[in-house]
Amino acid sequence: MQKIIGPFYQLLTMANLPERGALQDEQLEIIANAGIVVEGGKIKDLGSWESLKTAYPDAEREEIDEPMVLLPGFVDTHTHICSAGNRATDYAMRLAGKSYLEIAEAGGGIWHTVTATRSASLEELTEATIERAKVQLSEGVTTCEVKSGYGLTVESELKMLRAIQNANKALPIDLVGTCLAAHMKPKDFEGTASEYLQLMADELLPKVWKEGLACRVDAFVEQSAFSVEETLPYLQKAKELGFDITVHGDQFTPGGSQLAIDLEAISTDHLEASTDKEVEALAKSNVTAVALPGATIGLGDRFTPARAILDKGGKLAIATDWNPGSAPMGKLLLPASILGAFEHLTMAETLAGLTIRAAAALNVSSRVGSLEEGKLADFIAFPFKDFRNIIYRQGAVLPKKVWKRGEMVL
Ligand code: NIG
Ligand code: FE
Repeated sequence: MQKIIGPFYQLLTMANLPERGALQDEQLEIIANAGIVVEGGKIKDLGSWESLKTAYPDAEREEIDEPMVLLPGFVDTHTHICSAGNRATDYAMRLAGKSYLEIAEAGGGIWHTVTATRSASLEELTEATIERAKVQLSEGVTTCEVKSGYGLTVESELKMLRAIQNANKALPIDLVGTCLAAHMKPKDFEGTASEYLQLMADELLPKVWKEGLACRVDAFVEQSAFSVEETLPYLQKAKELGFDITVHGDQFTPGGSQLAIDLEAISTDHLEASTDKEVEALAKSNVTAVALPGATIGLGDRFTPARAILDKGGKLAIATDWNPGSAPMGKLLLPASILGAFEHLTMAETLAGLTIRAAAALNVSSRVGSLEEGKLADFIAFPFKDFRNIIYRQGAVLPKKVWKRGEMVL
């Protein structure tokens, strides 16, 4: 069954853009008075509304009766939306002057969420993930990465990944699981960090791979978590098993981004502490740098040097990092437009960072990220005549309609 949806005042394809480096708004492909043809959940065609009506006379019509801008659904390539508990206490401590690392050392931080997540049942975790994924859909996110990393035992990490899988089945959003057993060494593990990672590599990763619970492995390389030396063999093992690699790198101290480059990871995320040296190296590599402005705002930290990464020719995506500790806000467009304001990103750079370049960071760009024939019919419409208002309103205006695989879900 074919369906034509439209007309849209503007349609941004986000296709045919360079995959790296700076972008000007003029490079965006914009079709005026456009329609889009959907068949079997995928994009069959797109073009001017009048020409599509002639070319597909028998197709069902879904008519849009107000001026709207259509663009691909957002891809959020870094979240921790599967978790239990609340970290308002950490937030209050930070406002009162304690740092993220000091709170972590004092037993708060990630460990606090691990305790709550271990106690939660599979059903409770599934429900919590569904509730947050619904918020993501309302923000226009149609593909969303979700990490484990608050279980930190073989069984609790599996429970988290199963909750993510269950939530994926329950909602019209694609949730992409990532195993983050290397989030920190659990405080109740009797052994070294390397021994903990060895255990996860031997007993967790093969199960995760075999059961298809995740196709990505992440590690937090930081003073409060794992060193480069400890992480390297673990991620090498993950790579041998077939996982895509991503690294929480350079959040407070540089180091993780170079490991990501050495391992030919698909992305490295955070980079608030990256210096010119790390920016240069990243820009020469194939690793996508993922800025997480929600964590910058949540921690009152520096922004990722996004402008420098793009000017040097790097790949840049933008994600929420929605998590109970450093990025509790749970919004995408608001922090992304604030990052754009502080880092002087063009609207094209921000929008590409939320769509096609984010899809590359998640290794899903053959399916989503742009509006092109053969890709999933995942798209979102904002109630504007001019796409520039999406960024101009700094996240205050959310999509009015969201389609997933061609079905209107919002
Ligand atoms: O991406 N940096 C490490 N992990 C998360 C924070 C997780 C937490 O504090 O619960 C992040 O910011
Ligand atoms: Fe994170």
